Amino acid sequence: MIDIHSHPLPGVDDGAKNLEVAVQMCQMAAADGITHLVATPHCNYQYSFDPAVNHAKLAELQSAVGEKPKLLLGCDFHLSYDNIRMLVDNQANFTVNGTSYVLVEFGEFFVPDQIDRVFYDIECAGLTPILTHPERNPTFRRKPDLLYRWISRGCLCQVTAKSYTGGFGSTAKRFAEEWLEKNWIHVFASDAHDVKYRPPILSHCRKKVAQARGEETAARLLERNPEAIINGQPLPPAPSTRTPPLAMPRPALEALATAGAFGCFGLSRREALWAAGAAATIRPGQLPGTTGGMTAPPLKAMTPAEVTFADLWATGTYGTHPIEHIRELLAERGVCPAADLRDAMTGTLITVGGLVTHRQQPGTARGVMFLSLEDETGTANVICPPGVWERHRRLAIEAGALIVHGRVERLDGAVSLLATRLRRIRALPAVPSRDFR
Ligand SMILES: [Fe+2]
Repeated sequence: MIDIHSHPLPGVDDGAKNLEVAVQMCQMAAADGITHLVATPHCNYQYSFDPAVNHAKLAELQSAVGEKPKLLLGCDFHLSYDNIRMLVDNQANFTVNGTSYVLVEFGEFFVPDQIDRVFYDIECAGLTPILTHPERNPTFRRKPDLLYRWISRGCLCQVTAKSYTGGFGSTAKRFAEEWLEKNWIHVFASDAHDVKYRPPILSHCRKKVAQARGEETAARLLERNPEAIINGQPLPPAPSTRTPPLAMPRPALEALATAGAFGCFGLSRREALWAAGAAATIRPGQLPGTTGGMTAPPLKAMTPAEVTFADLWATGTYGTHPIEHIRELLAERGVCPAADLRDAMTGTLITVGGLVTHRQQPGTARGVMFLSLEDETGTANVICPPGVWERHRRLAIEAGALIVHGRVERLDGAVSLLATRLRRIRALPAVPSRDFR
């Protein structure tokens, strides 16, 4: 077996206290069947990290231990947004055995958005991060999806062998078992610090992996993958990672279906909406194809107007402006597009209609209400004098779309419609407006 994460260098961090303990650790590792042991001193705010000292200590330890195990150098790099440049600019000091693989550890309270940027920088530098013991990190325990996201991007996952065998508590063990089942783990390592509490032992873990997932998996995670890592080779082929179980409530699935998000699976919006309720009941472990109600009977396709309204309901936005769908109807009733207002003569009587996007009643306006109506051609500013406002108060407050009849006004170059009458447009669904008082 090959152990890519351990702390045997005497006196450089919280690992081996002195050369004697360091030698004992190496002998224990060799006796356990570990042929290569990568010494990975911490590089964090607590310990100084000096590559020259690390090389000298490694050589001293190797000569004290003899040939077995073969000692290599790496680093347990505590990664944050602040120290990414140090890693990228001095790669050889931190990578595993001078390869492009680097062990990275996160603090308990890192900011995921920043770490996305950090990973981007690491990838650009040609490095492959190996995330160390996420099963012991509260953030990954709280949000395992975060781990999956980074694994999907090419990050590797190293779990502590002793976590899997129960030495770091039941929670770490549960996550290690669960992630092994999902093929999220690329390598087990000891993260050894001494010979008593955190010893360089991998055989117990290997035995349990072989029992749970077979000999091939055990050999891959404790021999072949770590061997590829220390040699700077790509990892050998492995089963694909399993995606996190679908955990989406029914209303969210229905909203996605209504918005057409499942079109990529060849489902129309109505077909997806039909299946959403049944799909929301599917749980991990359920046999595929045993959920009833997933296949819709032949359904009529949505009209363009229905597609717009579905977009509006599900996402609050749309491709075709809703008013465009009823333009003919509005034209028959003498309603002009908002764009016509710009060129209309001052004092002309005109009717416009549109979605109410804003309602404002400034304290200094003495009861005057200002409305903004939007259609497919632009926006119309509407001034509602107090008398008109009082007459249509309820309508003006509630309606998502209005037809306004009024007289064209111009003031300082701005064109408005001084309203004399309001009517509701019933053919449209409610659209939220921005209201100020
Ligand atoms: Fe470590």
